[in-house]
Amino acid sequence: MSKIRILIVDDIKNTRESIRRILNFNTEIEVVGEANGGSEAIRQTERLNPDLVLMDISMPDMDGIRATELLSYRAPKTSVIIMSFQSETEYMKKAMIAGAKEYIVKPFTGNDIINTILKVYKKDTRKREILNIPSEPLEDRSPARIISLFSTKGGVGKTTVAVNVAVELANRQLAKVLLIDLNLQFGDIASFLNLVPKKTIADLAQVTTVKYEEIRFNMLTHTSGVEVLAASTRPEYAELITAEHIGQILNEVKPNFDYVICDNVSRFDEISLSGLEVADEIWLVLGMDIPSIKNTKLSLDILQNLNYSHKVKIILNRFDKKSTITLKDIEDSINLKVDYTISNEEQPFITALNKGIPLIEAYPNANASEEIRKIVEKIIEKPKEHVAKKDPAKMKSFQKIFGLGR
Ligand SMILES: Nc1ncnc2c1ncn2[C@@H]1O[C@H](COP(=O)(O)OP(=O)(O)OP(=O)(O)O)[C@@H](O)[C@H]1O
Ligand SMILES: [Mg+2]
Repeated sequence: MSKIRILIVDDIKNTRESIRRILNFNTEIEVVGEANGGSEAIRQTERLNPDLVLMDISMPDMDGIRATELLSYRAPKTSVIIMSFQSETEYMKKAMIAGAKEYIVKPFTGNDIINTILKVYKKDTRKREILNIPSEPLEDRSPARIISLFSTKGGVGKTTVAVNVAVELANRQLAKVLLIDLNLQFGDIASFLNLVPKKTIADLAQVTTVKYEEIRFNMLTHTSGVEVLAASTRPEYAELITAEHIGQILNEVKPNFDYVICDNVSRFDEISLSGLEVADEIWLVLGMDIPSIKNTKLSLDILQNLNYSHKVKIILNRFDKKSTITLKDIEDSINLKVDYTISNEEQPFITALNKGIPLIEAYPNANASEEIRKIVEKIIEKPKEHVAKKDPAKMKSFQKIFGLGR
C-alpha cells in the first residue's frame, strides 16, 4: 500500500521536527516535506503534491487560514488538517470554512495526530479517486495575457497600478496572477506588498536555461494569491540577469498563469525591450505634468516604430479635474485617447504604501480603488488576443540606436 504523504507547515522549526519524529514511527505515513509559512506551504504543496497538509494557524508571512483557502482551489486533491492552540478556537472555525478537513488542538499526543491523519485520509479517499481519474482537463487554461507597465519618466505610478490591478484580478475571479518586478535593481513590489524577498528573480541568473519549476521556486505568494517574482535584494545582483533570461522567464510562465503583470524600469533598455516584445498589452502610465506628457509622446514614437502601437493603452494616473492641464490637453498633445484615469489621492496611497497593503484592500471605497476595479472589469471582459510577431530587423536597429545589443 502506498504511504500517506504529509507536508508539515509550522513557523517553529522545533515543532516541525517533533511532529516529524512522531510521524516517523508510523509505517503508513511518510513526511515528504516541511514549510515554515503559508506562502512556502503553497509552493511546496504544488511541487510535492502531498495527500495531506498539517497546517499551523499563526505564521508571520501568510497565516494558515488564508493558505488553506488558497490550497482549496489550487490543490484540491490535498486535504488540510489545522493544528492550533485552544485559544485560537475562533480561528479554527474560520479555517474549517476555508476548507480544512479537521483540526487538532496543540499540544497533542502522537496518537491524537496519527488518528486524525488516518481518519481524514480515509474520509477523503473518494475525493482523491475522483480527482485522479484522467478525464477532460478540468481547466483548459489558455496562455496568460502579459501586461507590461511602462513609462520613461519615473515616479508616475507604474508600480502602484501594477500591484493594485494584480491584487484585484486575483481577488476577483480566482485567476492565477503573476507580478514580475522588472525594475531589477531598485524594484519595490515586495515592499508595496509587505513581502520579504528571500528569493528573487536574480536567483535565476545562475541557470543558463530557465525552466518553469525553477521560476516557481523563486516566487513569493501574497495573501491575495498573487504570485510575485521580486527584484533582487541588492542592485549588483541585478547585473546577472540578461534580456535572454527575461525572454525565457516570460515564455515559461505564460502557459501557467491567466495574467502576468510586468512592472518596468523607467527607460528603454534591453530588459524592458525584451518584456515589451512579448507583452500582449503595454500600459503607458503618465501623470498630469509637462515632462511626463513629453516623455509619453517620445515613448509612443518609439513604440510605433517597434510596431507595438496596437498593444498600447494609456493610463493617466494622479488625475485631477482641477488641474490647469486638462484631459483634453493631454489627449491632444499625445494624439491619442486616454484609456483609463486614476484619481490623485495623496493620503490613502501613502498610508497604504507605508502599511504594505495595496490601496484596493486598504481603502476599497476610495475613488482610485473604484477606478482600478473598472480597469480590471475591462481586462476580464476582453478575450485574450494573440501578439503580433515582432520585426527582428526593426528590433536590431533600435538596439543599435539605444547602444544596446551585446
Ligand atoms: N493616483 C495616485 N494618487 C496619489 N499618489 C499616487 C498615485 N499613484 C501613485 N502615487 C504615489 O506616487 C509615488 C510613486 O508611485 P510608484 O512607485 O508607483 O511610481 P513608479 O512609476 O513605479 O516609479 P518608479 O519609476 O520609481 O518605479 C508613490 O508614493 C505612490 O504612492
Ligand atoms: Mg516603480
